[in-house]
Amino acid sequence: MSKILEVVDIHTYYGQTHILYGVSLSIEEGQVVALLGRNGMGKTTVVRSVWGAVPPEKGSVRFKGENISGLKLYQVAQAGIGVVPQGRQIFPSLSVIENLTMAAKEGRWTLERVYSLFPILAQRSNLKGNLLSGGEQQMLSIARTLMTNPELLLMDEPSEGLAPMVVRQISEVISELNQEGLSILLVEQNLGMAMELAGYVYILSKGQIVYESLPEDLEAKPEVMGKYLAVA
Ligand SMILES: Nc1ncnc2c1ncn2[C@@H]1O[C@H](COP(=O)(O)OP(=O)(O)OP(=O)(O)O)[C@@H](O)[C@H]1O
Ligand SMILES: [Mg+2]
Repeated sequence: MSKILEVVDIHTYYGQTHILYGVSLSIEEGQVVALLGRNGMGKTTVVRSVWGAVPPEKGSVRFKGENISGLKLYQVAQAGIGVVPQGRQIFPSLSVIENLTMAAKEGRWTLERVYSLFPILAQRSNLKGNLLSGGEQQMLSIARTLMTNPELLLMDEPSEGLAPMVVRQISEVISELNQEGLSILLVEQNLGMAMELAGYVYILSKGQIVYESLPEDLEAKPEVMGKYLAVA
């Protein structure tokens, strides 16, 4: 198997503040990899370092073997990386269909296909983004990113703030997307969801990877979960 994403020893700063201290992680093609960790540990900063919103000052980010650090955001998107940002970030004053079509790029994912994946969005097509429920907004955020036809999806806490039933729906969609061949970096605080979907897990604490393993190995380590994750 070949690696679709390789993050090697990145150091990322916000201004003078050093946030990531030599983070390395990788994703095999077709794999779901979970990045776990408590609030404020740097998970979003890893995601933003990968897609170029906060370029790392040291280290490298390789996508399909090519160094993408330093590329412009649109170039990263064009290369095949899609981001489903934390907090959804849909355009509130645009309708569902406008949200979906504005970022669209030719490829397998069309309006028709995202509407069949999320039938509720088809029903809400002409409704403005801010009139959707949290779950619908998350679906719209995922659907909008699919419209850019990415090969790698970076999903930043897709379950955040959603009711268990909606989280279940989102999990099923993520699993379906993975079965279709999408590679996924899944940032989560919902441990159950991450364990179910991921083929490999990393834990981030204070800007460093402090643990990595197969999900079943982590499950057998309550002391690691207790120390680094928000679980009882
Ligand atoms: N734009 C910014 N400028 C300065 N510091 C920031 C900025 N964004 C985040 N930070 C700080 O960087 C650290 C890591 O934040 P980050 O958002 O990456 O954490 P996180 O693991 O995603 O947290 P959460 O689970 O709450 O989303 C935190 O200490 C945060 O306060
Ligand atoms: Mg975050």
